[in-house]
Amino acid sequence: VPPPSLVSKAHFSRTNRHLPQAIIVGVRKCGTRALLEMLFLHPQIQKAAGEVHFFDRDDNYEKGLEWYRKKMPYSLKGQITIEKSPSYFVTPEVPERIRAMNASIKLLLIVREPVTRAISDYTQLRTRVSTTSTSSAVTTSSTSSLSSLARPPGGGGILTPTFAEEESQRGAASSRTFEELVLRPDGSINESYRPITISLYHNYMHRWLEVFSREQILVVNGDQLIEDPLPQLKRIEMFLGLEPRIGRHNFYFNHTKGFYCLRNDTADKCLRESKGRKHPRVNPLVVSKLRRFFNEHNQRFYELVGEDLGWPE
Ligand code: A3P
Repeated sequence: VPPPSLVSKAHFSRTNRHLPQAIIVGVRKCGTRALLEMLFLHPQIQKAAGEVHFFDRDDNYEKGLEWYRKKMPYSLKGQITIEKSPSYFVTPEVPERIRAMNASIKLLLIVREPVTRAISDYTQLRTRVSTTSTSSAVTTSSTSSLSSLARPPGGGGILTPTFAEEESQRGAASSRTFEELVLRPDGSINESYRPITISLYHNYMHRWLEVFSREQILVVNGDQLIEDPLPQLKRIEMFLGLEPRIGRHNFYFNHTKGFYCLRNDTADKCLRESKGRKHPRVNPLVVSKLRRFFNEHNQRFYELVGEDLGWPE
């Protein structure tokens, strides 16, 4: 039996798995992976590997909170555990379920201009490989930097398991253009096409605001996160009550990729190829038509969140 002094030391230095104190709840294709990886640059943040899908999938939810906790990374006292599962945002049961776990949790919602998000969603549905992959969510400049970036404990990101819904939509998307899928034969907008439905943010947002106070939810601007990540990350550090530790030194613009990549003391890393895909060219008349269609919906979203995101009309 170790002496009592060693026992207490072991207790205080030990890491443990904790339920998340913050969750990135969506929106899919708005930069949820980039946001999680960028936040992980902060020494006080630990991230769950992959997407846990605890609150949105009944078979997972039924396994209980202990199952969920075991999906979390080890963390030290004072560190914040974060997970991201983008489909939480659009799944009706999720807000109540999260509240039942922790009524004072902090929620991050990253959004993009809805037409761009819809095109990104279409691009993913069209191109995504059908097998569930366990490849890393990031690419690093060398094998050694891969290990040095895997800040223990925490682990690397793992691809989301493919949704059954996505499978069926992909079939429809593979051979048809975006324009064919978003417009009905009479020229009206096909609101039941999933990439359009999900971009109607206010239809989901009101449920979150019925369950959580506005102060508990931070709306992150995904278009600005692409343009210049730092101001968004500074807002998040404040929101999470963290000391400002993420800085300019953590980013460099990769001209080949066309996106910012991440840097810490030991390595550089870019998100992998499926993040930052080339989008197909969409007829500008269809883009304009969609922007007009979304305008009214965007205004409703702005009213709900009390912020104008300035999306083009
Ligand atoms: P595209 O691939 O359509 O450009 P999510 O992780 O929620 O699926 O979001 C994917 C999107 O994250 C990408 O959509 C890309 O635009 C965006 N993104 C934001 N910052 C990025 C970064 N630094 N590197 C790569 N993609 C980034």
